[in-house]
Amino acid sequence: MVLKTEDRTINPTPDLSTPLASPEAQESVLKIWGQQSLSGHVSVNGAKNAALPILAGALLCSGECLLHNIPALVDVRRMGEVLAALGVQVKCGPHSVMVNARDLNESHAPYELVSQLRASFFVIGPILARLGVARVPLPGGCAIGARPVDLHVRGLQKMGAEVHIDHGIVHAQVRGRNRRLKGANIYLDYPSVGATETLLMAATLAEGETTIGNAAQEPEVVDLANFCRSMGARIYGAGTNTITIVGVSQLHSTEYAIIPDRVEAGTLLIAGAITRSAIQISPVMPEHLTAVIAKLREMGVQVTPEGDRGLRVAPGYDLQATDVETLPYPGFPTDMQAPMMALLTLAKGDSVITETVFENRMRHVAELNRLGADIRAKGNHAIVRGVPFLSGAPVLATDLRASAALVLAGLAAEGVTTIRGLYHLDRGYAHLDQKLQNLGARIQRTTIPADPTVAIEEPAPLPSVPA
Ligand code: UD1
Repeated sequence: MVLKTEDRTINPTPDLSTPLASPEAQESVLKIWGQQSLSGHVSVNGAKNAALPILAGALLCSGECLLHNIPALVDVRRMGEVLAALGVQVKCGPHSVMVNARDLNESHAPYELVSQLRASFFVIGPILARLGVARVPLPGGCAIGARPVDLHVRGLQKMGAEVHIDHGIVHAQVRGRNRRLKGANIYLDYPSVGATETLLMAATLAEGETTIGNAAQEPEVVDLANFCRSMGARIYGAGTNTITIVGVSQLHSTEYAIIPDRVEAGTLLIAGAITRSAIQISPVMPEHLTAVIAKLREMGVQVTPEGDRGLRVAPGYDLQATDVETLPYPGFPTDMQAPMMALLTLAKGDSVITETVFENRMRHVAELNRLGADIRAKGNHAIVRGVPFLSGAPVLATDLRASAALVLAGLAAEGVTTIRGLYHLDRGYAHLDQKLQNLGARIQRTTIPADPTVAIEEPAPLPSVPA
């Protein structure tokens, strides 16, 4: 599997306790010469947010799971490392991964790995379901908000697990003769994607029936449920707000292909819209993009179905302002908020963006303003006043989707945009720069001397996933 190795975390605020980058340190950046027209076809990878829980879900099976359409991302590789650390065999090929958890024997997920990837907390459900005991560190804080795991924990407790948190580690165990979780009626206070996925996985091997009320309805939850069903799990209602799982004693080997990434697809649609270009993208499941396509059309962008599982985006009328509020699926996805904001900076009129899912997901505002946008943000609201053009500047990506927003703005800006903090982009977008280059964008990954005024924290080197 081709994976990027330029992993570095860049702290936007200098920390005096961290050594500053030495003058000779180099840093990877993206340079974009904007205002090029794009054309042609671009393909969409498998969904990161489906691949990660599905890789964790493979722990439920005591045989081999062969997974296809796995995106080549740093986050996916990290999840592979977590599984390998649990005694599980992981083999990676181009776009596929084989996981054999027959020998799952380790109930303790290592802090160094879990702290680098919030989604690796998902392993708690499968480990607990298989071994009756699990010790998983709390995932670290994140740039987009506190992101607690209370809903995961409360649901597992409802299923009979004893859970306590000690020194930052969640200890969970099931007492009793067979150490199996028990089916339960669980109601989530909020339709959390992660909590729904953790509890769904845990319930597949529990004794009896579990219902998850106010469950998340995201397509990635449905994909995880379909994957579990392909291993023999009995799951009903995934994709609605009530999921019922009837526990079975064992799950069997499977081969499964992951859905296309709706966030990458949405980002590419905006790449076409913001450069006023006509491009085709596939594979996509247009029904997963209903809210995004509706907003693009409202803005005057033409989006039309093309062939089997394809979409064509083309310039329609002048871009018009519109309001956007992020919501759980099927509402407008929070992961598309920053890319959409980049597009709205060039629309005619004022747009109001309201972020309701995460409490700190507006950090891209300052960077977009550096490119000439006119955005005022207060709390979880941003007022975007459309400007006639953006102009290239050096900017810093602050989180994954913010990095995509800066790439999009850079494509439209006149002059050169240099984006630092690429570590974030590589977590969630595989080869985005090459894809855009193939469409005709002038975009280049290069290295520059690291800014000596900004502390650069090199993450621990990743041990290699067994090939
Ligand atoms: C997943 C996605 C992420 C997406 C998000 C919302 C993955 C790997 N990541 O993240 O890209 O932006 O869904 O669509 O799939 N919350 C609690 N307690 C909990 C769990 C969550 O209060 O126990 C809160 C969070 O702080 C947040 C909100 O619920 O404010 C939504 O979080 P959640 O749906 O769980 O998102 P993730 O699963 O972390």
